[in-house]
Amino acid sequence: MEKDSQEILLTEEQIQAKVSELAALLSEEYAGKDPVFVGVLKGVVIFYADMIRAMDIPCQMDFMCVSSYRGTESTGRTMVSKDLSSDIHGRHVLILEDIFDTGNSLEFIVNHLKIKEPASLKICTLLDKPDRRNPSVTVKADYTGFVIPNEFVVGYGLDFNEGYRNLPYVGILKPECYA
Ligand code: IMP
Ligand code: MG
Repeated sequence: MEKDSQEILLTEEQIQAKVSELAALLSEEYAGKDPVFVGVLKGVVIFYADMIRAMDIPCQMDFMCVSSYRGTESTGRTMVSKDLSSDIHGRHVLILEDIFDTGNSLEFIVNHLKIKEPASLKICTLLDKPDRRNPSVTVKADYTGFVIPNEFVVGYGLDFNEGYRNLPYVGILKPECYA
């Protein structure tokens, strides 16, 4: 059973309270700015849907997807597998992410979006796992939901082998389940 394979780290109530808090902050920050919220697929989908519904300002939705290809060398190379479908030149852009882990993907995404010359570019992540950060990553999150320990987590959009995404909470996957 999926339910027996994790230990709850963040309950549905804790997550929803944080979503309300972040959404209130962002509604103030982006009022009158006609922002574009860029969701990083696929993990962010649940957080994204909850966030935009909790905000009381209009926003434009867009998404991108990046993939890491690992060759024989140990470092992964990131590629855009789905780019934005709108023009963000001169727009206020907020990237929404599920988790800021090594930071490699956010660093890549920020550099990719900067070239498109948005008026501003900020990052909001639900989770931050600072212990895993690649020391060469320079981007920082402007808004963070929860700082979490160095554990593999699933649920609320986050997956292990595409499973567990629709759990309403975030759980630590028990090590025997990675096997
Ligand atoms: P990065 O290492 O910061 O580039 O994170 C890349 C992606 O790995 C994240 O956007 C997540 O989709 C995924 N990821 C990182 N840590 C976890 C985790 O604990 N559980 C599930 N997915 C994770
Ligand atoms: Mg992600």
